[in-house]
Amino acid sequence: MGRLEGKIALITGGAKGLGEADCRLFAKEGASVIIADVDPDARAVAEDINGTFMHLDVSDEDNWKQVVADIRTKFGALHILVNNAGIVEAGHILNTSLSSWRRVNAVSSDGTFLGCQNCIPLMIESGGGSIINMASIASLQGEYVVTAYCAAKGAVEALTRAVAVWAAQENQNIRCNSIHPSGIVTPMVLSMPEKMASAEMAGKEDRPSRASKLGEPNDIAYMALYLASDESKFVNGAAMRVDNSMSVTAGVVTER
Ligand SMILES: NC(=O)c1ccc[n+]([C@@H]2O[C@H](COP(=O)([O-])OP(=O)(O)OC[C@H]3O[C@@H](n4cnc5c(N)ncnc54)[C@H](O)[C@@H]3O)[C@@H](O)[C@H]2O)c1
Repeated sequence: MGRLEGKIALITGGAKGLGEADCRLFAKEGASVIIADVDPDARAVAEDINGTFMHLDVSDEDNWKQVVADIRTKFGALHILVNNAGIVEAGHILNTSLSSWRRVNAVSSDGTFLGCQNCIPLMIESGGGSIINMASIASLQGEYVVTAYCAAKGAVEALTRAVAVWAAQENQNIRCNSIHPSGIVTPMVLSMPEKMASAEMAGKEDRPSRASKLGEPNDIAYMALYLASDESKFVNGAAMRVDNSMSVTAGVVTER
């Protein structure tokens, strides 16, 4: 029997990268997976895993309401929400435009807020559930090159604790935790050199450390699986680092 047998899971940003890995692993472990993304490529992933594609721009409140209504009609329940969709733009404090700040925060910060707010009522009706918010080590440590992203992920981390406390206080069977990955090989990370170059920041990457080698999407998906499953029923409001020690050794364990 799979670790998510009988559970209905909504994963945002599942067309590629970490979200796609979550979708594939969750389906393998028995979940019914709904992949919500702005990228129509998510449809192919859904077909591959016998899941369901729904178009969703996570920064759009009306779109969230429609998706949750469709899940209620089609599945009648929701047990797992992974707020995974996110974008990154290069920029330090002096060259980040307000429009870039707003774009990045709209997806990670607004998107995670809207996801929690719109999905919790259906989760309560379903007997409870697990919310997993994709933060980053960028919320735990400063990063020179992605100022707006650091702030957006800080909002995700803090919102996670607020939701966890709310659920505990209301005695709802809902848990909310964040995951904080370091660099994992995905289209987002592979796009960084080009983004740095167009922001005229090539060569400004943070100092490499021996711990800064890149991970693979399943390194994160297995943490998401644990948090999604009942195995983690006593874990609520936690910030889970999955970073091969990078956030505690950066600047200490350097390349030789
Ligand atoms: N890859 C890493 O090293 C890393 C590290 C820390 C945190 N993260 C976080 O993990 C999450 C996934 O990252 P990734 O590397 O797989 O990124 P990615 O760019 O490879 O994939 C992101 C997915 O989100 C979707 N998306 C973007 N904007 C959206 C929107 N408005 N509505 C719905 N979907 C949208 C994209 O279409 C894509 O499918 C992000 O929140 C990212 O910030 C990634």
